[in-house]
Amino acid sequence: MRRAILALGGAFIVFLLLSAIIDHGRPDIVQKPKGTKPPHKDPQTQEWQEEIFPLAKAGKIPKINPRNIVNDNNLKTPLFIGFTRNWYLLEQAVVSYLAAGWPASELMVIDNSGVMDSNLRGLLSPANPWYLNHTRLSQLGVAVKRTPTLLSFAQLQNFYINYAIEQNWGYYFWSHMDVVVVCNESESSENYKSLYRKAVDALGDTLDKREHWGLKFFAYDWLTLVNVEAVKDVGAWDTQIPYYMADCDMYSRMTMRNWTQDAVEAGHVYDVSSHLTDLAVLFPEEGHESELNTTRFKDLKNQLQLMMEQKQNNSHGRNTWQARRDGGEGEPFWRNPKGFERGINFWIDKGRELFKLKWNYSECNLIDKGYRYGEEWTRE
Ligand SMILES: *[C@@H]1O[C@H](CO)[C@@H](O)[C@H](O)[C@H]1NC(C)=O
Ligand SMILES: *[C@@H]1O[C@H](CO)[C@@H](O)[C@H](O)[C@H]1NC(C)=O
Ligand SMILES: *[C@@H]1O[C@H](CO)[C@@H](O)[C@H](O)[C@H]1NC(C)=O
Ligand SMILES: *[C@@H]1O[C@H](CO)[C@@H](O)[C@H](O)[C@H]1NC(C)=O
Ligand SMILES: *[C@@H]1O[C@H](CO)[C@@H](O)[C@H](O)[C@H]1NC(C)=O
Ligand SMILES: *[C@@H]1O[C@H](CO)[C@@H](O)[C@H](O)[C@H]1NC(C)=O
Repeated sequence: MRRAILALGGAFIVFLLLSAIIDHGRPDIVQKPKGTKPPHKDPQTQEWQEEIFPLAKAGKIPKINPRNIVNDNNLKTPLFIGFTRNWYLLEQAVVSYLAAGWPASELMVIDNSGVMDSNLRGLLSPANPWYLNHTRLSQLGVAVKRTPTLLSFAQLQNFYINYAIEQNWGYYFWSHMDVVVVCNESESSENYKSLYRKAVDALGDTLDKREHWGLKFFAYDWLTLVNVEAVKDVGAWDTQIPYYMADCDMYSRMTMRNWTQDAVEAGHVYDVSSHLTDLAVLFPEEGHESELNTTRFKDLKNQLQLMMEQKQNNSHGRNTWQARRDGGEGEPFWRNPKGFERGINFWIDKGRELFKLKWNYSECNLIDKGYRYGEEWTRE
C-alpha cells in the first residue's frame, strides 16, 4: 500500500514537472517552457547546407567510443524515432544515438512524411521539407518503416504501440527527432556508463522489479520507455486529440490506473531546432576513441547548450525548425510548407477544444483536480 502511494506520488511529481516544463503536448512539436524570459531576437537562420555528415558521404563513418558499446545485454531495446519534416535534424538525432552506443539494429526511423515511397525512390530533393535519405540510413544500419499515410502525433504513438504488439514486444523506447543525445563524459572514468548502457540498466531494473510501471522518462519525454501492457490497459492514445494535450490525456489516464511514470537519468539530452555543421563532432577523434571528458566533448556540450537556448529563445515559437526547409515545389506529394504548418496549428487548437469537451476541463492537471478513470465524457 505504502509503496503504491509512494509510486503514485512519484508519478505525480514527474507529471507536475512535465506539465510545468514542457507545457503539454508533444507532437514532433514541443512548446516553449514556461518561465523563460521574453524573446529578444528573431529565430537564428541557419545557413543552408546540403550535407552535414561528409564523412558518411565519403563512406567513412567514424568509430564510436568502444566504452559506449554494450556486449553483455540480452534484452531487446527497440527505439522508434518518428520523422515528418527536416532530415537534417533527424540525421543528427539518429547519429547521436549511434555515437552514444545505441545499436543501429535496434533503432528504427518511422517515416511519417506522408510522401509514400518517394523518399525510398529518391524522388525528393534535400531542400524539400519531407526529404529523407534512405540510403544514408541503410548505410548507418538503421531500418526505416513507413507509416501508410501522414499520421498525427497521437496516431503515430498508436502506430508504435501496434507495431510493438505485432512484434510481441512488451516494451519499447521512443524519442523525439529534434534532440541530440550525448553520454555524460564528466563522470569519473571508473563510473562512466554510456547513455545506452544506462538505458539498458534502467530497463533491466524496471523489468526485475516487476512494478506496475507505465513509462520511464529520460529527460522529460525526449526519450521514453513505454510498457505496452500499460498503454493497452488504458486504451492507447486518443487520436481525436491529434497534438497538444494528447499526452496530458494519455498520461493522466495512465496515472488514474496506477501505472507509474518515473524520471530516470541517462546522460545529456538536448532539445534543438538547428543542426551541427558537421556531425563528425559527435564521434571521438580518430586514434583517441576511448578518451573521456575531452575538449571535443566540452565544446560539443557548449555548442548544444547554445543551440538549445536558441530554440527556447526563438520568438516565433520553438517549432519553426519544422517549417524551415521550404524547397521542393512540384515534387511528389509536395504541400505548401507554410500552409502545412497552419493546418497543424489548426488541428492543435481543435485538439485542445476536444480535450475540454472530453473532460470539461482544459488544463493538464486532471489528477490534481480529482478526475478519475472513466470520468471522461461524463461532465458537461
Ligand atoms: C544520401 O546518402 C548517400 C549515402 O551516404 C549519399 O551517397 C548520397 O549522396 C545522399 N544523397 C543526397 C541527395 O545527399
Ligand atoms: C572533466 O573536465 C572538467 C572541466 O575541464 C573537470 O572539472 C572535471 O573534473 C573533469 N572530470 C573528470 C571525471 O575528469
Ligand atoms: C490505484 O491505487 C489506489 C491506492 O492504492 C487504489 O485505491 C485504487 O483502487 C487503484 N486503482 C486501480 C485502477 O488499480
Ligand atoms: C553527469 O555526471 C556528473 C558527475 O557524476 C553529474 O554531476 C551530472 O549530474 C551528470 N549529468 C547528467 C546530465 O547526467
Ligand atoms: C536567450 O535569452 C536570454 C535572456 O533573454 C539571454 O540571456 C541569452 O543570451 C539568450 N541565449 C541565446 C543563445 O540567444
Ligand atoms: C463543467 O465545468 C463548468 C465550468 O468549470 C462547471 O461549472 C460545471 O459544473 C462542470 N460540469 C460538471 C458536470 O462537472
